[in-house]
Amino acid sequence: MIKNICCIGAGYVGGPTMAVIAQKCPHIKVTVVDLNEKRISAWNDKDVNNIPIYEPGLSNVVAEARGRNLFFSTEVDKAIDEADMIFISVNTPTKTYGVGKGMAADLKYIELCARQIARVSKTDKIVVEKSTLPVRTAQAIKDILEHTGNGVNFQILSNPEFLAEGTAIEDLFAPDRVLIGGDVTLEGQKAIQALVDIYANWVPKDRILTTNVWSSELSKLTANAFLAQRVSSINALSELCEKTGADVNEVARAIGMDSRIGSKFLKSSVGFGGSCFQKDILNLVYIAKSYGLNEVADYWEQVIIMNDHQKRRFAKNIIKTLYNTVSGKKIAFLGWAFKKDTNDTRESAAIYVADDLLSEQATIAVFDPKVEEDQIQFDLNYLETRSEEANNKGVQVASSAYDACKNAHAIAVLTEWDEFKTYDWQKIYDNMLKPAFVFDGRNILDKQALEKIGFVYQGIGSR
Ligand code: NAD
Ligand code: UGA
Repeated sequence: MIKNICCIGAGYVGGPTMAVIAQKCPHIKVTVVDLNEKRISAWNDKDVNNIPIYEPGLSNVVAEARGRNLFFSTEVDKAIDEADMIFISVNTPTKTYGVGKGMAADLKYIELCARQIARVSKTDKIVVEKSTLPVRTAQAIKDILEHTGNGVNFQILSNPEFLAEGTAIEDLFAPDRVLIGGDVTLEGQKAIQALVDIYANWVPKDRILTTNVWSSELSKLTANAFLAQRVSSINALSELCEKTGADVNEVARAIGMDSRIGSKFLKSSVGFGGSCFQKDILNLVYIAKSYGLNEVADYWEQVIIMNDHQKRRFAKNIIKTLYNTVSGKKIAFLGWAFKKDTNDTRESAAIYVADDLLSEQATIAVFDPKVEEDQIQFDLNYLETRSEEANNKGVQVASSAYDACKNAHAIAVLTEWDEFKTYDWQKIYDNMLKPAFVFDGRNILDKQALEKIGFVYQGIGSR
């Protein structure tokens, strides 16, 4: 029976997943380690509201388990040494250099973990891939671990995470399924069972699915590709709706009621963001190409092409509607996070829309309830389109939506935060330049009510 878990990587996945395992399994000691000292000290902050990740319900879980059987530390070697099961939850971003640049997953952090585990381990361990990895990565990890020559036995499992940010705790408490892939050998099956036993503390057995390692690795990329493909499909139709007078919300509702299609993930938007959809599809495209499967690669690449188009056309439409110039105009951004209920901004559509508008010399005033000013500047600087000074000058970060919208020519809604729907829109209108435009990139505001006030309203996928 597993008594001691170590998780390498205290990010959006490692933090919440381990907090939940610790809460649900008080008999297991869970230590989450990271190289990032600032992140670890934030996880250890006395005030549980200061933990580094905003996720509804997470602070309560951390408050209950931290110091009891949940620990956050930078002592990676010590935690590896003590553990009988090690989760690898480090980041696997798109490569920015060399072969596969812009497509393949960068596995350098994974390999570093494997080498560190190999170096430190003195007793047998089960190593669990929690990070999203290209199919057949387990082979590489195995090669590294098996060549240590110190007689330690390792079993490698794939246990991809399916939580979505903003609903991570809900998703972890009641997952649609938990997927565990392992070797078909007796030892492999024993390792699978050890992990099944952990989840079985709160997940019904029929929701715990076991497969071979390669199916598990590939299922994770496939799940994200299918989800993102639905968003790109509805977004593709949104443009046709705008031309024809059909309303994409009505179309989504009509098709979603077909139980074969289903109603989820059909919300047309300014484009999907987040750290994984794009990265994982690019990775899938790269893998398909590496096997010479060009049609397969092209098929999935189109999901990304459509998403890029959706972000660009949202910015273009703002410029066109504001009489073909936004130079010197103030545009208020409501929301910067890639979706509501998270402070994560990775690959958020807002970044790309802002970048296009800044290139047209607009001034942008951003308000997001959970994103810090530094992060907004960091996101824009990361693109390297213009100097840091220029980004600083072009973007103001407001402490309220009312401030952001004051004297603005237009408002762009980039994140679907619930609070935006509760604002005093008359007050916002009164303080804006006229005509006052709203470009609702999330279709969350009440078009009729806004038009009644006097706004010129444009949603996505309807006239
Ligand atoms: P993240 O960047 O938030 O966290 C990764 C952490 O790993 C960082 O804090 C980093 O400092 C740490 N790290 C990197 N190398 C390390 C090393 N050698 N030793 C110790 N710490 C190290 O990333 P994330 O969003 O948590 O994603 C992690 C993985 O999970 C990725 O593969 C991602 O695709 C996958 N995933 C993410 C989500 C999500 O919602 N974010 C959901 C499912 C799966
Ligand atoms: C997604 C998956 O939903 C998770 O199952 C997966 O574990 C995770 O990726 C991952 O591997 O990282 P996440 O990116 O956190 O989760 O959030 P989603 O809810 O999937 O939203 C992704 C993007 O798509 C957001 O920008 C969201 O606004 C957008 N979206 C989503 C739409 O535009 N329309 C929709 O109908 C749904």
